[in-house]
Amino acid sequence: MIDASDDDVAETLADLHRLTFLDAAAIPDFDLGAWWLAYYGDDPVAFADVVPSTHARNCGYFSRVGVLQPHWGRGLQLRLMRAIEARGRHIGWDGIVSDTTDNNFSANNFIKAGYRLFEPEVPWAWSHTLYWRRSLR
Ligand SMILES: CC(C)(COP(=O)(O)OP(=O)(O)OC[C@H]1O[C@@H](n2cnc3c(N)ncnc32)[C@H](O)[C@@H]1OP(=O)(O)O)[C@@H](O)C(=O)NCCC(=O)NCCS
Repeated sequence: MIDASDDDVAETLADLHRLTFLDAAAIPDFDLGAWWLAYYGDDPVAFADVVPSTHARNCGYFSRVGVLQPHWGRGLQLRLMRAIEARGRHIGWDGIVSDTTDNNFSANNFIKAGYRLFEPEVPWAWSHTLYWRRSLR
């Protein structure tokens, strides 16, 4: 976990976000939630974050993950998810929720990590979005 209130760290996260999401998603507020960076040697190559869920009671919402293209296929999303789950257990959350839209690579990682599909009472994304959850208990 990293200190995203540090300007250099926030800049690194913003760069990685731009390179992995291109213009598909707005740059998030790095002051919110907990952030992770994964390094290859000295180079930051992946990031992820989790925030308290506003929809699922006492759960974390795994909000973003991005891996630079040359580093795809090394299971970095999965490793970052494990770090987020460990943090969730430490906090005492009941589970982690997340979603994927048109993203089989990410969806397959949720399957690998033992997440299950569910239908939220109030779906918060698109009509074809898949919603994932995993108990931490
Ligand atoms: C989704 C993402 C984080 C997965 O990265 P990852 O953890 O490195 O992926 P995996 O290790 O699970 O890769 C499994 C396989 O899929 C391939 N793969 C992963 N992402 C891919 C992509 N976006 N396009 C094409 N192939 C991809 C890998 O090369 C690997 O192939 P291999 O089995 O032949 O070696 C990454 O694709 C990414 O950053 N995408 C852009 C941002 C995004 O969509 N984030 C998730 C939505 S919040």
